[in-house]
Amino acid sequence: MIPHQWYIVLESREIKPGQIVGVTRFGERLVFWRTTEGELVCLRDKCIHRGASLAIGKHHGDEIACPFHGFRYDKTGKVTLIPANGKSSEVASYFHIKRYPVREKLGWVFVWWGESEPTHEPVYFDNVDESFSWSSSRHLWPVHYSRAIENQLDLVHLPFVHTNTIGRGKKTLVNGPVQVVRDGNIAFWVYNEVDHGQKPKKAEDLPPPDFSRQHIHFIFPNMWQNYILDKMRVLVAFVPVDESHTLIYLRVAQKFVRLPLLRKLVDFLALRFSQVVLHQDERVVITQIPIATQLHMEEKLIPGDLPIITYRQMRERLKNV
Ligand code: FES
Ligand SMILES: [Fe+2]
Repeated sequence: MIPHQWYIVLESREIKPGQIVGVTRFGERLVFWRTTEGELVCLRDKCIHRGASLAIGKHHGDEIACPFHGFRYDKTGKVTLIPANGKSSEVASYFHIKRYPVREKLGWVFVWWGESEPTHEPVYFDNVDESFSWSSSRHLWPVHYSRAIENQLDLVHLPFVHTNTIGRGKKTLVNGPVQVVRDGNIAFWVYNEVDHGQKPKKAEDLPPPDFSRQHIHFIFPNMWQNYILDKMRVLVAFVPVDESHTLIYLRVAQKFVRLPLLRKLVDFLALRFSQVVLHQDERVVITQIPIATQLHMEEKLIPGDLPIITYRQMRERLKNV
């Protein structure tokens, strides 16, 4: 994992008031709950006493209690009460569990992964806001998240993997790619066409980058958008569960249908279509060896793989910061 980043790890709706939710992220058990004010808290899910999971513990106002011997934890991870020592005993300051900074934005839950405190606030696509309605689903893939991400940066696979959906038309020749790289994000445009024996066009011979046209946009470490139209997007978060599992949060967002019932139907059908596309990807991606990628590895990449090469280079740079 790249340290010192805001990762999307969940959707806000997965942690309802009064619930204590335990999940595995980054290969570690985390526990989430909300204070009485609704503030979201994330701690390492391993009681400092003898290692039990706090996720099966109980709420006590703004605090939670371990199910094993009742140690109480506040939202900073500090133990406020050790029942066996009695209410009148002070709790030493080393009774403290790791707390992870958390933020919520557009229904996503971000966790700051790293030893340091956050250096900035989470960044999301600035052209997505609350005016969209969306429906979403989750899909667990047995791959490292680098493979899942690279699949969504792959414009060579479209006519092979998605023959009857987004890759219809046998457009096997990859022109460009036209790509824009800014700090922490990659955007690119697809100009694939049918091969009549012509040479692929170079990026400079294709239309210049235009963010109002369909393009793919990725923000490190794990956010992806297919900007289909100003009013229609597919949004994905690649959530690292551990070194060999990724939870893909798929969200279809639109704002051109307003009527509630019709909107629900459109959201449902759009999500269904995106799920079909994702399953087409899954069938192949889970067969890739090795399950994680890195900058230097035994793969013979081609010019059409430019966004993947860029991703690997940027990832390597961020890992070494
Ligand atoms: S293991 Fe949690 S209080 Fe003992
Ligand atoms: Fe695909």
